[in-house]
Amino acid sequence: MTSRIPVIFDTDPGVDDIIALLFALSSPELEVLAIVVSYGNTDIESAYANVLKTYQAVQRHLDVYPQHTNRFPNFFNSLKTIICRGSDGPLEGPLHSAIYSMEANCDISRDGLGGISESCPDLDVTSNPKQLDYSKESGIEVAINLLEKHEARSITYIAIGPLTNLARMMRQNSKLLSTKLGRIICMGGALDVPGNTTAVAEFNFFADPYAVRELLVPGEPCEFPFPSDRFLLLPLDITTPHQLPFPTYKDRVDTSFESSEPSGTPIAHFTSAFLTQTRNIMLQFGNDAMELHDIVAVWCAIAFPPFSDDSSMKETSVPGWKAVRRIFDIERQRFMIICFSTGELTRGMLVVDRREDESAYAPGANRAEVQASLDKTQFSGNLESIALPAQVELETAPLAKKKADSGIWCITETPGPDTLLKILFERVWGVSERMET
Ligand SMILES: *[C@@H]1O[C@H](CO)[C@@H](O)[C@H](O)[C@H]1NC(C)=O
Repeated sequence: MTSRIPVIFDTDPGVDDIIALLFALSSPELEVLAIVVSYGNTDIESAYANVLKTYQAVQRHLDVYPQHTNRFPNFFNSLKTIICRGSDGPLEGPLHSAIYSMEANCDISRDGLGGISESCPDLDVTSNPKQLDYSKESGIEVAINLLEKHEARSITYIAIGPLTNLARMMRQNSKLLSTKLGRIICMGGALDVPGNTTAVAEFNFFADPYAVRELLVPGEPCEFPFPSDRFLLLPLDITTPHQLPFPTYKDRVDTSFESSEPSGTPIAHFTSAFLTQTRNIMLQFGNDAMELHDIVAVWCAIAFPPFSDDSSMKETSVPGWKAVRRIFDIERQRFMIICFSTGELTRGMLVVDRREDESAYAPGANRAEVQASLDKTQFSGNLESIALPAQVELETAPLAKKKADSGIWCITETPGPDTLLKILFERVWGVSERMET
């Protein structure tokens, strides 16, 4: 086997982060060096406890099924995975965590995991899992130390929470990040689709638009810029079509899902405990499925080989995956004393300047082509009259060439949700493909 990819896992564990973490723990391609926990889906202490609950669930699983030990390669790292606390709020501006900013009618719990400690007291952590190395240092220090110790360009940084920690690391030691960080895989933002926290913003970018702007929107030229050519973004545009239908989960993973007498494996018991509430919330949005946002990011880290010294996304191609460069800015929200506050409605919105992009004016492009491409990216339904997704035209428009050398690499195609579900089921829950009969 080729060597494992060393990973720093920056997360704000709520529901999809926890499944993403389970996915990482069960992926032999990755070696999780550290888990940097921060605010986001919930407050930092609840988020931290959620990681411990995850480790405890895996431990209990292996107590019952020692034969599954090989399924969790990251559980037995020779150097224990470090757990540490990152930022507890954004670089600037007010703190919005999902539990406070969710639509009022969503009954979301404080712990970010559907209140499992109340519904399943047995999932509370009784003692600190021994597989983790508990660091008192801040996540920023821990990550910087790891970058210093490891070979240049070897570490992959998976960012599935707000980008605050990365922005702080950049402020503290831009040379280190610029020269030694291998690549960054980030879930965040909504480019050509609606937001999921407000009408226009995805949660991670909404939570700290200041960090996004510092890192991803080019400013004054400087000696050690953020390595944005080694940054891969998975916005909602690509993550949302990846879903796990709850009936499929119940059928394949845990037939006792939502029943009062859980009978699944310890891992299924844990995931079912919080997915019960996720299902209720998703049903309010009319969708009986869980969206796999952060999980797609982990998948991307597994699928894409790290960039070697001089290469970047430009030279990298992986079958089934596609990325294009996009240029955008992001709306922040400024609060000014006495004056107005601006960005009231649009905090975290990605702003794409389409003025020079002829194809941005509908109906310009060939709709059949656009629809075919939409179908291919697993969006269902018909194209709305003016909903021309920009990335589709970007590849053919002359503008694309002009902008080809700048912008942020955004994933626009994956091998598809079915492929992801297959891997996820096998790794996290040990459920393999059903035999054809
Ligand atoms: C919005 O997307 C983020 C992806 O990071 C996810 O964690 C969050 O749960 C989503 N929120 C809703 C309401 O779907």
